[in-house]
Parts: sequence; structure tokens; C-alpha cells
Amino acid sequence: MTLDAKVKTIDLNLYYGPFRALTDVNIEIPARNVTAIIGPSGCGKSTLLRCFNRMNDLIEHIDVRGRIMIDGENILDRDTDLIALRRKVGMVFQRPNPFSLSVYNNLKFGLRIHNMMRKKADIMRTIQESLEHVGLWDDLKDKLGVSALSLTLEQQQRLCIARVLMLRPEIILLDEPCSALDPMSTLRIEELLRVLCKEYALVIVTHNMQQAARCSDYCALMYLGRLVEFGQTQQIFTNPKEKLTEDYIRGAFG
Ligand SMILES: Nc1ncnc2c1ncn2[C@@H]1O[C@H](COP(=O)(O)OP(=O)(O)OP(=O)(O)O)[C@@H](O)[C@H]1O
Ligand SMILES: [Mg+2]
Repeated sequence: MTLDAKVKTIDLNLYYGPFRALTDVNIEIPARNVTAIIGPSGCGKSTLLRCFNRMNDLIEHIDVRGRIMIDGENILDRDTDLIALRRKVGMVFQRPNPFSLSVYNNLKFGLRIHNMMRKKADIMRTIQESLEHVGLWDDLKDKLGVSALSLTLEQQQRLCIARVLMLRPEIILLDEPCSALDPMSTLRIEELLRVLCKEYALVIVTHNMQQAARCSDYCALMYLGRLVEFGQTQQIFTNPKEKLTEDYIRGAFG
């Protein structure tokens, strides 16, 4: 498969102490698409996702081998600028995690860390753009001073995505971003992903196969730390190459 790959792992192996959580993972994440990572609990989905912005570095006794190429650079290199990496590769978590601050200050928060934008007018314009992008501007334009924690869970998750967008990322990682949301909110967030993927490489981990089928262009099935199959979502769901994929899609395990 030839893809415009934004992220490419080469023989990626990851150990938590003696436990090998990822084995020889070779995957190419395409630019401007949604890639879903699916597989049963404990198969290494979150571990793989966290590799892409080196969030795993925060865990003790971890050993990562192989290469992860983003724009021609191996981000596992010792001299990688982690702050710059995490600006470029943003992350959204399972539970919305806005800070206990106003909507405005949540959005402004990362700018200082990354030394971006000082002028109030620039900040305000970017806040508006980010909120428009996630469909929150009309709801919140007159409420930028309210606490982010007073928003609905769906609004909080949208705000967390907007907070990532403020930093002008290129890749957005989402680890089960809808698992705290109701079904209608989930569908609306999926629609948002379809909009965002026109500009960003999105990687979503999901337990929910229907969600992967609905909102992803490419799909990766993980099992016991290995990448079993990667391909276009339609192919994975209708014509899988691997027996294991077929069994998983059929609901035979997981
Ligand atoms: N910090 C850690 N230390 C030791 N082992 C870990 C750590 N984090 C994860 N693991 C183990 O690594 C394996 C992969 O975990 P991971 O969280 O990546 O799986 P997952 O596919 O995201 O699972 P889930 O669907 O339940 O979220 C599991 O066996 C897990 O127990
Ligand atoms: Mg997980």
C-alpha cells in the first residue's frame, strides 16, 4: 500500500519491565485521514498510541526499541524536543479533562508553554477559530468566562479538542474519546472527526467496532501486542485478509 504516511513505525517494540507490550509493530499512519486502532482489551492500543507523542516516557521501567518516523525524523532519538513533539502531536483522552479554569483560560493555557502568540487579538482570533472548528463558538462565545467544568461532557470533550487545535498540531491522537459520552454525543463527535481529518492526521483508539466502521478511513487490528492487519476500513470489515481479523470482526473473541 502506498500512502502519504505522516507517522511510520519501524520494528517498534515496547517493554514494561520484562513484559513485552508491543512486538515488531510496523504501521504507517496516513496524513489527512482517520485511522482507527481496534482490538481486545490489553492488546496494546493505548500503548501504541502513546508512542506517537512519547507519552509513555512518563512511565517507569519502560524500554522502547525501533524507530518512529514523523516528517523524516525518528522521534525516539534522544535529542528529540519533547515539548515541540507534543505540540505537533496532540492528544485527547477518554474522560474529558479540561482544567478547572474558564473556557478562555483552558484554550489559552498551552500557548505560554509553547511560547506562541502574545497579542490579545491573535489569541482571541485563534480561540474563535478553534471553537468554530469544534462547533462550540455559537454556544460559548458569550460564555468564555464560565468554568469549563460547568459544560456538558460533550462540550468538555469538544473543548479538549479545541485546546489541542490552539497549538496548531499536525496529528491528533484520541484514546477512546467517546467512551464517557451518550450515543448522540458520540455520533456528533464522530462527525467532528470527519471534518477535522480534512486537515489533520487523526488516530482514534476505540473498543467500538461500529465506531471504527463509521468514522475511520483506515483500520489497524492489534492482538497481544502485534499488528494483525492494517488496511482501508472497508476492506478490513468486508474482506479481511487475516483469519484473526475475520474472527474479531465477527465477534468471536474480544
Ligand atoms: N504502565 C504499565 N506497566 C506495566 N504494564 C502495563 C502498563 N500499561 C499497560 N500495561 C500492560 O500492557 C498491555 C497493553 O496495555 P494497553 O493499555 O496498551 O492496552 P489497550 O489495548 O489500550 O487496552 P484497553 O482496551 O483495556 O484500554 C496490557 O497487558 C497492560 O496490562
Ligand atoms: Mg487503552
